[in-house]
Amino acid sequence: MRSREIFEEIRNQKDQIFGLRMRLSLLVAAELVICILLSIGANSLFTRMSSTALRVPLIVGIIAFGVIFCFIVTSLISKWFSDPIKKMGKAMEKIADGDFSARLTTKSKIKEIREIYSGFNMMAHELGSIEIIQSDFVSNVSHEFKTPINAVEGYAMLLQDCDGLEEDQKKYVDGIIVSTQRLSTLIGSILLLSKIENRSIPTDQSEFSLDEQIRQSIVGMESVWEEKNIEIDADLESVKYYGNENLMIHIWDNLLSNAVKFSPYGDVVTMRLKKANGKIVFTIEDNGEGISEEAQKHIFEKFYQADSSHKQEGNGLGLALVKKILALEDGEIKAENIDGGGCRFTVILKNKTA
Ligand SMILES: Nc1ncnc2c1ncn2[C@@H]1O[C@H](COP(=O)(O)OP(=O)(O)OP(=O)(O)O)[C@@H](O)[C@H]1O
Ligand SMILES: [Mg+2]
Repeated sequence: MRSREIFEEIRNQKDQIFGLRMRLSLLVAAELVICILLSIGANSLFTRMSSTALRVPLIVGIIAFGVIFCFIVTSLISKWFSDPIKKMGKAMEKIADGDFSARLTTKSKIKEIREIYSGFNMMAHELGSIEIIQSDFVSNVSHEFKTPINAVEGYAMLLQDCDGLEEDQKKYVDGIIVSTQRLSTLIGSILLLSKIENRSIPTDQSEFSLDEQIRQSIVGMESVWEEKNIEIDADLESVKYYGNENLMIHIWDNLLSNAVKFSPYGDVVTMRLKKANGKIVFTIEDNGEGISEEAQKHIFEKFYQADSSHKQEGNGLGLALVKKILALEDGEIKAENIDGGGCRFTVILKNKTA
């Protein structure tokens, strides 16, 4: 079963829900008829009664009985119908979050509910297999790309060192190297993302110094910020953290590379790391143009780039990667604009130690 069949299944489920609604309407109508019969019976009882002393308590009794009867019947009916639908709502939420392992079981006597549940399970199963095929494909293709790209880059580098190249030829070789490096970064990011999404990344946890790791990131990216004459103002409190050291480095690398990329030439990027209210808080600020409110809603999505002037300088995968890594670490990230220009990214981590 593929996409078209899944849509068919959804259409089928719509029919089942329609049948369910019809049944519900019939039950409510039956309840109404019972109420009407009750009031007709009560009315004829009153007209035949001679003693007025008995009339008032009888009226009160019948009204009370009617209200209680309707209340019990209505709550039974709504529970009967709404419980399985609530259960399905929860399972749908799981599917929407990308967890295709959600399945529904029921002992319901209602045929439509049983059919909706089995249709839902079929859909979840198929969506799960499509997801596996797709992510396996992405991961295999990216992996297969890596070797030839590395070879092209290696040969281009050898060519760069050859004597006797004309100016134009040198420019072409430089172009090949820059493009292959860009492609290699893209493939690296796609592979890492797909590994995190498939949960096939090693979950090694260890205690390490977070401030030291951030300093390593600053040093590792020296060529990038020096090229733009950017000053890094870092005030990093000594913080020990227990988590996946190999993954965490990507967070600082990506946030720093963005801050530098979107800063004006010769500006300052500010980084702070401290413990506050039992949490670890990291902030990075730049004085660039900031991010529009609309773009802030999408920057953590894969391949989203808000600023068209910098599209050449990335693939829109950095923040998606950061968000996924933080989800694994049970951490959070938020972006906001700073009054007077620029933006601030805040990373909040749990204070975890070994
Ligand atoms: N510090 C920042 N200032 C302004 N805009 C930013 C900043 N950081 C991120 N953005 C916006 O969010 C988008 C997504 O960022 P992200 O890091 O995911 O992608 P990228 O930097 O464009 O490419 P990549 O990270 O894959 O090299 C950016 O293209 C940019 O529009
Ligand atoms: Mg980036």
